[in-house]
Amino acid sequence: DLCAFCGACNSALRNHMKRYANIVLVGFMGTGKTSVGKALAEWLHMVFVDMDGVIEQREGTTVSRIFEKKGEPHFRALERQLVLELSAKSGLVVATGGGIVLNPANITDFSRNGLVVCLSARPETILARLSADSTRPLLAEGDKKNRIMTLLDSRKKLYDAVPHQIDTTNLTAEKI
Ligand code: S3P
Repeated sequence: DLCAFCGACNSALRNHMKRYANIVLVGFMGTGKTSVGKALAEWLHMVFVDMDGVIEQREGTTVSRIFEKKGEPHFRALERQLVLELSAKSGLVVATGGGIVLNPANITDFSRNGLVVCLSARPETILARLSADSTRPLLAEGDKKNRIMTLLDSRKKLYDAVPHQIDTTNLTAEKI
């Protein structure tokens, strides 16, 4: 039962994962961070944390309203604060918001005691997954396909810089 993650540590994948205080999923909107995070947390008996969900709960409103009323920089500051809190804890599977990579310090902090994995998917898949969605303020205006392509392009280097990558395009949450 060799580790399917590193192929070297001679332990089951589940045991390998236990080496990390936290597991942190990053990646563009619609790459599966939340559904994969939930499944992973269950499998590892860890606690699932959805960063957008925590921020919404604390602010008593939706991410869209926060963007609208207080602006994106305010949302990024809330995100940054939450990264500092979560990266000091352990036993968590964290689904981040897609823009977490915009501040490289977020990835640095999560990487200190955690395993950071970047999920990706083909733009067509992302579009299909988000076609009926109205909760993403950054995709609310203009043509959704164009917005996805433009944002993906502007962030590509940041996502690609994460050492561990999984293309979720043709995979189920369990497989991922
Ligand atoms: C954002 C992604 C969203 C949410 C906010 C901004 C982004 O999270 O944090 O709308 O900048 O990519 P999801 O990746 O969970 O959709």
